[in-house]
Parts: sequence; C-alpha cells; structure tokens
Amino acid sequence: MKSQLAKAAAGIVIVMTVGGLLVIWSGVVNIGASSGHWPGMGWFLQFAMRQSVQRHAAGIEVPPLNEPGMILRGAAHYATGCAPCHGEPGNPRTPIVRHMTPPVTFLPPIIEQWKPNELFWMVRHGLKYTGMPAWVAPERPDEVWSMVAFLLRLPELDALAYEKLAYGETAAGRGWTGGDRLRGLGGAFSGLLQECARCHGRDGLGRGAGAFPKLAAQSERYLYESLKSYAEGDRASGIMQPVAASLSDAAMRAASAEYARMQDIDAAPLPKADETARRRGQAIAARGIPGRDVPACAHCHGPDAVARNPLFPTLAGQPAEYLRVQLELWKTGRRGGTPYAPLMTAVARNLEPEQMHDVALYFSSLDPDADAETPAPDSGKL
Ligand code: HEC
Ligand code: HEC
Ligand code: HEC
Repeated sequence: MKSQLAKAAAGIVIVMTVGGLLVIWSGVVNIGASSGHWPGMGWFLQFAMRQSVQRHAAGIEVPPLNEPGMILRGAAHYATGCAPCHGEPGNPRTPIVRHMTPPVTFLPPIIEQWKPNELFWMVRHGLKYTGMPAWVAPERPDEVWSMVAFLLRLPELDALAYEKLAYGETAAGRGWTGGDRLRGLGGAFSGLLQECARCHGRDGLGRGAGAFPKLAAQSERYLYESLKSYAEGDRASGIMQPVAASLSDAAMRAASAEYARMQDIDAAPLPKADETARRRGQAIAARGIPGRDVPACAHCHGPDAVARNPLFPTLAGQPAEYLRVQLELWKTGRRGGTPYAPLMTAVARNLEPEQMHDVALYFSSLDPDADAETPAPDSGKL
C-alpha cells in the first residue's frame, strides 16, 4: 500500500516537472516586467523572502548603532547607493524603478517591520531575483552597520533633515558651484569636488563627527594612489569604491592635487579623561612596543623633522575612530591600499584592541603643525 502511494506521488511529481518544463520550453510564460506577477505570486514571494531573511539573520549580533558618525556615513552613502532605486524623503522613486517587477519599495514606512540584524543581512547580501544588489565590499561589515544605523533613523526624517544628513553643507538647493577653492578645477572637473564635499567637507576636513577621513593637506601621492586602489578593488570600501570607480585618471589626479593644497587646521582638544590613553598612545608612536615586534609609528608617520616617503600618510588630526578601524582592518587582513600597504600588516598584527584605540587617539589629537616637516617640497608631487 505504502509503495503504491509512493509510486503515485513520484508519478505526479514527474508529470508536473515535465509539464512545467514544456510550458517554459513553449515560451508562453510572459517574462515582461510590465505583465506584473500572477495573482498571489507577489504575496508568496514576499513570504518566502521574509522567511529566508529571518532564518539567515538569526544570531547576528547587533553592535551599538547610535554613534553620530555611523549615521552620517550611512546617510551619505544612501544618497549614492540606495536612493536611485528606493527614493529618498522629499524625492520619491523615479517612474523608471516603479516599473520594475517587483516594484522597488519606498523604505521609510517599512523599516520598522524589520529587526536591525535582518536589515544588516539584506543590505550586506542583497536579494536574489529582485535586483537588490549585495554590498560592494563584503569585507566591511562595519560600513553595513553604518547603513543600518541610518535606516533606523530614516522613518523620522523629513526632506530637510535628510538632506542635511546626506549632503551636509552641500545640501542647500544642491546648487553649490564650487566656491573659491575650486577655481583651479574648471572645465571637465567642475562639480567633481562638490561630490566629494558631500562627505569630506568643502574644506577637505571631513564633515563633523569623525565620520569621514580628512583629506586636506594629505600627501598628493598618497591620495592619488588610494583613489586608484579603491577604483581597482585593491582597497575595500562599499562607500568609496563606487565613487572612485567613476573617476577618470585625470579626475583622480586633479582631486588629489586640490586636496593636497588645502589648509589643515588644529585638532579639537580632547576631553580630559582621555589624557591617560593619549599618553599611552604617544609612547607607542614614539617607541613602538618592544618585545611585541611593533615598530615606532613616528618612524614612518611623524611627527618628526625628517622628509618621509610621500606614500606614508599623515595621521595628525585624522578622526580617531577612522584610524582605529583602519588598524583593525589590517590586523584582520581586510585593509588593502597602495603598493606599500603590506608594511602596515606587520605593524598592526601584534596590536591589541586597546593599543589601537590609544595610538589612534594620540594621532587624532596631534596638531597638523606638529607634523609640518613632512615630505620635502616636491617629493609628494605626482
Ligand atoms: C538597483 C536597485 C536597488 C538598489 C541600488 C538598492 N536596492 Fe534595496 N531593493 C531593491 C529591490 C528590487 C528590492 C525588492 C523589492 C522591494 O521590496 O523593494 C529591494 C529590497 C530592499 C529592502 C527590503 C524592503 C522590503 O520589501 O521590506 C531593503 C531594506 C533594501 N532594499 C535596502 C536597500 C539599501 C539600504 C540600499 C543601498 C545600500 C539598497 N537597498 C539598494 C532594489 C535596489
Ligand atoms: C558618500 C561619501 C563619500 C564621498 C561622496 C566621497 N568619499 Fe572619499 N571616503 C569616504 C569614506 C567613508 C572613506 C573611508 C573609507 C575606508 O574606510 O576605507 C573615504 C576615503 C577616501 C580616501 C582615503 C583617505 C585615507 O586617508 O586613506 C580618499 C583619498 C578619498 N576618500 C577621496 C575622495 C574623493 C576625491 C572624492 C570625490 C571624488 C570622495 N572621496 C568622495 C566617503 C566618501
Ligand atoms: C615602515 C613604515 C610604517 C610604520 C612603522 C607604520 N606605518 Fe602606518 N602606514 C604606512 C604606510 C605605507 C601606510 C599607507 C598604506 C596604504 O594605504 O597604502 C600607512 C597607513 C597607516 C594608517 C591608515 C591611514 C589612512 O589615512 O588611512 C594608519 C591608521 C596607520 N598607518 C597607523 C600606524 C600606527 C599606529 C603605527 C605604529 C604602531 C604605524 N602606522 C607604523 C607605513 C608605516
């Protein structure tokens, strides 16, 4: 009896499979997005997606998501990487994406239906069969969490609040024409630095909250080689890779020269409580950690009066959190960069998390003038 049932079931499966293949082979299924889904199919696919996301996201631990820098980074990238499909407050989805099947959702009303770990999983991995892309740099979960931090804020943002977060000082009407700093960048490059200013600030100082690295007064060679390494996929960042990949070589050179010329300013004073950590960091910078194979950072990064290799970046006044994350990326084998980047793998390998924190804090507290004697006048030129 049992075996007869099994045979019947197998027969049905075979007939359905062959029948299904015949229907597909005949070409009658309408693949056109304009035909929409069959009745019930939209619901069924949503259900399948929700089950899969919940299952795969289970157990992902959520880090603290309230750091202002994270929200700014997420917002700025949302404007580049998500808004063209999902729209943004005050700027709805284009008619083009609304003609996709499935149509792309306007996100603010649906965010609260998902938990932070589920948002993380979808943004990191994308969604098959929908057109929702995976994060460009799978090595950078820290960046994906920044996006989640911003998504959680998205439902409460009106158009103005959103513009301020995503566009910073370039927000007002988005009609910024460059100002005096960009005089040298006319013609083909006008507008180029406006795009960068959205994140790095018009003055190249990094736009508040330590969300973005400072570019002003950095070595021109280092800036150019870094842009190239993002564009060629040698340095992983889901935020900077798409930006750099859209630049021509000439645009990279022009932007690097412009930022290298900009003025740096003094670092903000540290809160008193950080002074002990800063001192520990200073000791590491000056002497390294004897016995742990960690060399003195000052040897390559200053502050000192020696002309340095133009591919050794200045760290003075760079946001502490940015520096700390870069060290952690090297320690875990995820930070590429210029051809000299492997030098840093050996440096970071033996640093403990607290030592990374301390030395990052020390460099971020340094005034740029302490580091003024960097490369001899033309050695950083391209
Ligand atoms: C090329 C277009 C495209 C881009 C770019 C894109 N998405 Fe999507 N996204 C989709 C599509 C299509 C879906 C599935 C349909 C839907 O639910 O909106 C989707 C689904 C989602 C969902 C689930 C929505 C739901 O139905 O509950 C989230 C959350 C999401 N995307 C976030 C993002 C974020 C954040 C970014 C930027 C990092 C992004 N997407 C970039 C097309 C895109
Ligand atoms: C959407 C925000 C955003 C935009 C727009 C943007 N950047 Fe960036 N940039 C970042 C972030 C975030 C990082 C740090 C990425 C990392 O962790 O590697 C970065 C890093 C960099 C670095 C490496 C800095 C260092 O110290 O190693 C350079 C160089 C750079 N950007 C240049 C540019 C230029 C030039 C433009 C304009 C063409 C630009 N960026 C536009 C967000 C942005
Ligand atoms: C032998 C030379 C050398 C020594 C010693 C050295 N560095 Fe570096 N460091 C480099 C080079 C080269 C780069 C640029 C790598 C790249 O992106 O290609 C760099 C980059 C960095 C960056 C990233 C900066 C940015 O803007 O993204 C940090 C942070 C850093 N170093 C911290 C340290 C610390 C902390 C120490 C000491 C514990 C140290 N370095 C010692 C050569 C060195």
